Amino acid sequence: MNHIVETVTFRSDVWVEGISVYVPHYFMPHREFALTTGVDPDKYTAGLGCKNMAITHPVEDAVTMAAEAGENLFTWWGFDPDDFGLLIVATETGVDWAKPVASYIHQFLSLPSDCRAFDLQHACFGATGALSMAAGWICSGMSGGRKALVIATDIAKYEVGSAGEATQGAGAVALAVGAGAETTKRVFSPNFSLNAVYSQNVMDFWRPGYSQNAVVNGKYSIECYLKALGACYTKYRMGGGRSYRQFSYLLFHLPFPKMAWKAVLKLEEIESEISGSALADGELADFYEKRVSPSTFGARQIGNIYCGSVYLAMASLLEVEKDCAAGEEIALFSYGSGCCAEFFTAVIGGRREIWEGKIGLLKALSRRERLDYKTYLEFRKVSDGLAHSESFSVGRIPAGQHIPPELRYMFLGYKRNRRMYITSIAERDYWSDKVRSGAQSQF
Ligand code: HMG
Repeated sequence: MNHIVETVTFRSDVWVEGISVYVPHYFMPHREFALTTGVDPDKYTAGLGCKNMAITHPVEDAVTMAAEAGENLFTWWGFDPDDFGLLIVATETGVDWAKPVASYIHQFLSLPSDCRAFDLQHACFGATGALSMAAGWICSGMSGGRKALVIATDIAKYEVGSAGEATQGAGAVALAVGAGAETTKRVFSPNFSLNAVYSQNVMDFWRPGYSQNAVVNGKYSIECYLKALGACYTKYRMGGGRSYRQFSYLLFHLPFPKMAWKAVLKLEEIESEISGSALADGELADFYEKRVSPSTFGARQIGNIYCGSVYLAMASLLEVEKDCAAGEEIALFSYGSGCCAEFFTAVIGGRREIWEGKIGLLKALSRRERLDYKTYLEFRKVSDGLAHSESFSVGRIPAGQHIPPELRYMFLGYKRNRRMYITSIAERDYWSDKVRSGAQSQF
């Protein structure tokens, strides 16, 4: 029996009806990072395709970033929390072994009490797993006409001085998923019935329970990614899928932007065998420039955001190619180390006015602040300190210095084994005033 391309036909009217991103306020240019650490900048810019790396402030974590992305989605798209019956947070940098990030988000976003809320983990594959589960929940009739909220949130962190450090990043992407949307709400419709999945137990990248940083077998992880892509694409083509060359755009999981070029080379290698004709080098480069490069914009500016990476590529495509992307058919490849991967397709809604001004990527990038290498190291140190028990004290609520002005959610450390969060700008200002006036206060 062929399990490769599912024979069950999905409802074709499952649509992502809203997508918004959260991008950290600080970034470090790769050029500066390279020069400070004695590396040829071309290695990062030309070799890996990177430009800037998003840096989180110590008061940010997977919870605060997910809340910011969800809040952006609700505010900019005008969703009513009561319309949601499912929340899945996809993360590989969760904050607790038992309590999901989703429990905090359920409260912070005022979701209804009869809304299922849980986390989903499989390295960078988590969000695609969550989106396909949300689509299945809708198709099965379990949703009762309600929508699903999928939020991908992660901080990509490697050891200081390691090869992986250049591929760090952070961010969150929130997706509202529904069915039967009017044309005025259609952003993109994922098709998980014409797809191909590949899973294998490999030790290419992981984060041991005792560690804040990921451990990675870098070169091997690239091999695993390409092997999974090759297996998915071959299965997808053998199951009746169209050539990759026929899609208007291709979106990839982007651990670093240059990975997209390696991926296209892999697809072309397989496609030329299947079709018996190969693209000339110039044609392939042209294909890449037009149909792949636009979606790598976010990764070049932010870095790897793990679970949200392929959806950051979607946000990039919608904002950067807004005049061309509407109504187009695209193919996506999601990869999570460990590993699980999926090649699937989607159709983009026909009207770009729907998402214009509501995704937030370009807006967030335009108000970022540059951080030097020394402050980046300080941020890491404070962040590691906050992750220890009993680290909370009201004096930690910073009275202004380096605190991004737009942050509504902040993590302040542990108190009585509980993570302490500030959940609004008003609350942040209230506590900052107390700190400034020297008051000793209890949270
Ligand atoms: P590295 O050893 O520092 O770099 O590791 P390199 O020596 O391989 O150089 C990188 C590229 O730059 C090479 O190009 C060099 O030739 C080139 P390539 O041969 O690959 O085309 N280069 C230069 N170019 C111009 N001028 C120069 C120069 N010097 C070198 N002067 C590596 C790189 C990506 C392995 C490392 O950064 C790493 O370990 N990153 C983290 C792991 C990773 O990103 N893996 C990707 C696949 S796994 C995945 O996607 C899953 C993941 O997202 C996690 C999850 O699923 O949760 C990571």
